[in-house]
Amino acid sequence: MLHRKDLLGLYDLTAEEIQSILTTAAQMKDKLRSGEKNLSFLKGKTATTLFYENSTRTRVSFELAVKYLGATCINIAAGTSSVKKGETLVDTGETLDAMKNDFIIMRHPMAGAPHFLSKHVTASVINGGDGRNEHPTQALLDMCTMAEKFGKIEGLKVAILGDISNSRVAKSNLFGLRKLGAEVRMYAPQTLIPKGIEKLGAKLCKSREEAVEGADVVMGLRIQLERQQAGSFPSLDEYAHFYGVNRKIFSLAKPNALIMHPGPVNRGVELTGSLIDDQSSVILDQVLSGVAVRMAILYLITQYRNRV
Ligand code: CP
Repeated sequence: MLHRKDLLGLYDLTAEEIQSILTTAAQMKDKLRSGEKNLSFLKGKTATTLFYENSTRTRVSFELAVKYLGATCINIAAGTSSVKKGETLVDTGETLDAMKNDFIIMRHPMAGAPHFLSKHVTASVINGGDGRNEHPTQALLDMCTMAEKFGKIEGLKVAILGDISNSRVAKSNLFGLRKLGAEVRMYAPQTLIPKGIEKLGAKLCKSREEAVEGADVVMGLRIQLERQQAGSFPSLDEYAHFYGVNRKIFSLAKPNALIMHPGPVNRGVELTGSLIDDQSSVILDQVLSGVAVRMAILYLITQYRNRV
């Protein structure tokens, strides 16, 4: 059960709420696998995706989730909307409210933008990624795949390697995984580790080997060239050589360990191409979990709104 109108971040959610989303998502995933895509849980509702940054997985899977649940989906790309004419975020949100829209699913380069908008609109706001802050639905879909493969999250050792400093995925995974009792190890060049991440529960490692040794999950994070100041590391080739995950490093993980990546992947940088395509890789299962988790969130928020 969810106890809120908006889904803004995993920092705010209780362990029970996270577990409830994962349980519902597992049911939705079963439905998707059996071809049930004409559900009516959200019949009569309308959702709008409002993306101020590029996206393939998040935007498309939200649109499919809305449609599979029987609702109507409208897509606004900020680049072709009245935002280009100077309209503010709040004015855009109030305009959608006036049209009786029920959900705003948004991605924004500014940390906190969905939190801000949620205070000014009647619609439920779902965070599809806000700057370097959080990407809660990505972490939930990652946990959905882990829970399905291992039966539970508690006790898992999850190694996260890559651009942690710029990564909202890393932070949401850290909050969610720790709340459900997993160990979260992190490794990256010093320039890509945010200050204070240990205080949030991460175990910082001194080498790739230390991070991956005995891990259940090895997650590569995209090097975010668009958010980097020049000079965080010398070159992509050097990053791949000294910090990327290859088969030799991955062999230190548990024999049944999973390779994960939120995508999009820089092939041969965070992970070697052969690992991305390896049978241990669940990157495409993460994509399916993405539709299921987003269906679960839309469904649980609608249930909450029907209760209050
Ligand atoms: N993982 C993720 O957020 O991918 P997109 O940028 O394609 O949505």
